[in-house]
Amino acid sequence: MQTPYCLPTVYLNGAFMPLEEAKISPLDRGFIFGDGVYEVIPYFDGKGLRAHEHLVRFARSMALLDITNPHRIDEWLAIVEALVTHNKESNAAVYMQVTRGVAKRDFSPSKDTVPTVFLMANKLSQPPASLYENGLSCVSGDDARWGHCNIKATALLGAVMHKHDANQAGADEIILFRDGFLTESSASNVAMVKDGVILCPPMDNLILGGITYQLMMDLAAKHNMPLEARKIRRREVLGADEIWMMSSTKDVIPVTKLDGKPVGTGKPGALFKQMSAHFQAYKSSLQGAR
Ligand code: PDD
Repeated sequence: MQTPYCLPTVYLNGAFMPLEEAKISPLDRGFIFGDGVYEVIPYFDGKGLRAHEHLVRFARSMALLDITNPHRIDEWLAIVEALVTHNKESNAAVYMQVTRGVAKRDFSPSKDTVPTVFLMANKLSQPPASLYENGLSCVSGDDARWGHCNIKATALLGAVMHKHDANQAGADEIILFRDGFLTESSASNVAMVKDGVILCPPMDNLILGGITYQLMMDLAAKHNMPLEARKIRRREVLGADEIWMMSSTKDVIPVTKLDGKPVGTGKPGALFKQMSAHFQAYKSSLQGAR
């Protein structure tokens, strides 16, 4: 049976199977405590975009929570690529999750718990052209998430609440600030442009160090686009010429409205167009490379 929730074949604890056959215990610590980590790796034309970097971050997230990593990076890569092949979908977002596993409900994690491994894939479509022409509408808000946003944890209630708040306010997304400084959005990194310079919040524990964010910085360096990584005040963001959002499932997209006011001219900016073109070229170059 075809399911709308993900592509038909998933991977659970060592085996590929139809989604309908994948069963986990309600005592899994991922379900009880949100005690797990995840990754999302984009595949374009069957090629992973910085898959190795995603898997390094995955291993780091597990290490930071003292969850036993059940696989080496090459083993993870083989599973991810087999999932893409099984699903016969060359443009896919592979979601992978490891929880601490099934145990008696106890806040103390035990060393003997066997991690639960689950992977699924979704079709990855290019964001609609209208998004590149019109951009996103955002609201600003105070970051109410925890202090370890560098860990890609499955406990995402803070992010879910922020996204819900944005949608309730009639906006697409939220731009978050902690102690008056820009952090990120609910599920993407945020950068801004002022006077021809790309400004990026530092990759500390207050944001997820995005793979797409790093790619954007690498492309800026390669193409001599001026960039500064530093703490950015809220008033700087409110006065930005351009604001960008980026993640593995979105590439780079422009934000054209913040708190009901236009960002810059209210249209995607010149530097955004340059960066977006560099992204498309980078993605095309994946063909034939790994
Ligand atoms: N989200 N910041 C947060 C809080 C995120 O959840 C994400 C990704 C990013 C961008 O990271 P990357 O470029 O490595 O995808 C930044 C994913 C896509 C998700 O949760 O679905």
